[in-house]
Amino acid sequence: MQALKFHIVSVLLAGMLFSCSNPSTGWADKALKRAEKQALAMAVQLDTLPGRLPRSATPEGELITSGSDWWCSGFYPGVLWLLYENSHNEDLLKYASEFTGRLHGEQYNTSTHDLGFMLFCSYGNAYAATQADSCKTVLLNGARSLASRFNPVVGCIQSWEAWDNFHFPVIIDNMMNLEMLMWASKVSGDTLFRHVAVTHANRTMQCHFRPDYSSYHVVSYSPATGEVEFQGTNQGYGDESAWARGQAWALYGYTMMYRETGDEKYLAQAQHIARFLLDHPRLPADKIPYWDFDSPSIPDDCRDSSTAAIMASALLELCQYVDAVQAQEYFNVAELQLKTLASPEYTARYGTNGHFILKHGVGNVPQHSEIDAPLSYGDYYYIEALLRYKNYLKNK
Ligand code: GLY
Repeated sequence: MQALKFHIVSVLLAGMLFSCSNPSTGWADKALKRAEKQALAMAVQLDTLPGRLPRSATPEGELITSGSDWWCSGFYPGVLWLLYENSHNEDLLKYASEFTGRLHGEQYNTSTHDLGFMLFCSYGNAYAATQADSCKTVLLNGARSLASRFNPVVGCIQSWEAWDNFHFPVIIDNMMNLEMLMWASKVSGDTLFRHVAVTHANRTMQCHFRPDYSSYHVVSYSPATGEVEFQGTNQGYGDESAWARGQAWALYGYTMMYRETGDEKYLAQAQHIARFLLDHPRLPADKIPYWDFDSPSIPDDCRDSSTAAIMASALLELCQYVDAVQAQEYFNVAELQLKTLASPEYTARYGTNGHFILKHGVGNVPQHSEIDAPLSYGDYYYIEALLRYKNYLKNK
């Protein structure tokens, strides 16, 4: 009897120890659990909509979907893969595979630069989780399609098709598509992919940044001579403003290029961009940026949760490449951003918000589109950042 009691107490104690999460990451575990529940509810809804993928929601919480050719199509499948990496819930695996398959045709799409977002967030995470050759094939075809938009005279991948006087528009967001090319180069041994990515990153460093390391959203070039014909914006407040998400894409992009190449100039660039962001007098105390740092309506303007999520994810990588003092500063900002995003102010209640995880994203103000709305990329980088946060603390 005594032995049995001892056994039961031991089992209970072991169970308690197992179920108690690390005190410093317990809040992140809870945030991930809430996100998983919401993402699975989204999956049930999406299952009834063949071929569609989540894009945003109406103010009443109705899901808005897109076809696979929309630049955001890969983010939700990516959310499922990332959540699966965290919990190994088999339902996540099932839905992640199903919805990733909806992007299959995009590997041959040569009409957009967004293939990195679309395919690397979906099939890239699928390949990381499964090592399936079928995913590798899609990614390599996608990398070929993306590289077909490179013009060696300009030294860049063309973002959007030409219109009016915009002969070869390139947007700062395009830095995010380079990760798939760097991956393709390593996996295939074809150095052309790496050449395209590195040349694009270098040219963007020359032409997209102002002396204070803020970035223009759009630079348009002459495809014949490579000359800069326009520097300005399409999604920001004005041509000389710092559109917040663009700064976050730049921070993430150069941090990733440093990881992939070891080239110190990319690390320096990422650190300069981080300084611009962290020292900005209009970065609020909770570190969730307004949609544009130069909006004259600040402080009565929208915050953009997606910018905060992208920034947090980038800072949690960048803090691993810098000295301890710098690392602590980056980590503290990212932690505050994530804790704010995990609060009820930014995290949607279960079953609301079209089943997106985060509220208060800003898509495209000049186009009056998706303002103060959920955004699939906000959710993706939020989950990625939470996982990076947990890994960083685990490996510290
Ligand atoms: N790539 C478009 C955006 O960030 O809104």
